[in-house]
Amino acid sequence: MSVDLPENEPAAQAGQTIQSNSSIEQARDYVWSRPHLLGLEDLSAEELLHILKTAESFQEVSTRSIKKVPALRGRVIVNLFFEDSTRTRMSFILAAQRLSADVLDFAASKSSVSKGESLRDTVRNIEAMGVDTFVIRHSAAGAPHYITRCTNCHVINAGDGQHEHPTQALIDIFTIRERKGRIKGLNVVIVGDIAHSRVARSNVWGLTKLGAKVTVVGPTTLVPKAFEKMGASVSHNLDAALKEADVVNMLRIQRERMTSQVFPSTEEYVRLFGLTRQRLRGTKPDLLILHPGPINRGVELASDVADGPNSSILRQVSNGLAIRMAVLFLVNQATGDTCADPQ
Ligand code: CP
Repeated sequence: MSVDLPENEPAAQAGQTIQSNSSIEQARDYVWSRPHLLGLEDLSAEELLHILKTAESFQEVSTRSIKKVPALRGRVIVNLFFEDSTRTRMSFILAAQRLSADVLDFAASKSSVSKGESLRDTVRNIEAMGVDTFVIRHSAAGAPHYITRCTNCHVINAGDGQHEHPTQALIDIFTIRERKGRIKGLNVVIVGDIAHSRVARSNVWGLTKLGAKVTVVGPTTLVPKAFEKMGASVSHNLDAALKEADVVNMLRIQRERMTSQVFPSTEEYVRLFGLTRQRLRGTKPDLLILHPGPINRGVELASDVADGPNSSILRQVSNGLAIRMAVLFLVNQATGDTCADPQ
């Protein structure tokens, strides 16, 4: 399948200059073969860099007065969210609209899932309306992978259980590269509820492939040793880890995924693992502070740190649009089969 890149298309009629720079040319020349984006574990460094470059080429669209290009005109994207979301859901909707696609926004609570319809039947019925791409968030790890076996559509993982959240990690990596000018050789510290975090897993896969040194930090109950096998270092001492850090990515405690108490009290958690102004005194002055959201202010991040000069948290949200435009665009132009044998 081929999709027109934003060149020689109607934005010019609106009096706007269409990008025809080298990044667009690279995006056009690179043969992207993956019809789905299910995680960062399987992607090569070259593929990761290509997504980042494609996102760079789309970033300019958001600065125009008419924020639209015709790259996916006539395509239909379905947001299939079985878990709550603010950033990811709205960002995928807006990204698809900026690519001129038609967008359907499915909410599980208002659908026939509440009447007992299976995931497979839901997907197959929506596909029968003439859909090209499913963007799915689900509490079950592997749900997006399962959908690739049920449909001929492209599938993008918008967060599956504790497994992966690839577009969030791409946003984090893109923002680090934008702010620091590189990924290779940086010390990136990821703090908090690592055990339940799909964002942490996707970040570790992506960052280590691009040459960063990643340390995951948190209470022993929330930082599995298994992260060492993924290429990260494990620490339970935030102050020690922060001394050499170039970037710190603070994560929320995901109480909704916990079945037991994993630390004695919130007060103790904040004392040991919360990022406060006082704690920043022992860090590099240009430490970049990230958070994928939603923030629990006063727990993982003090409010003045979240809103302070080292924070790029809202920039992450802005960059989310370009990343999601790039991912939607790439999977829709992929050369590989979406599904050879739907079940
Ligand atoms: N970061 C993130 O996934 O946020 P939402 O849950 O609001 O989509």
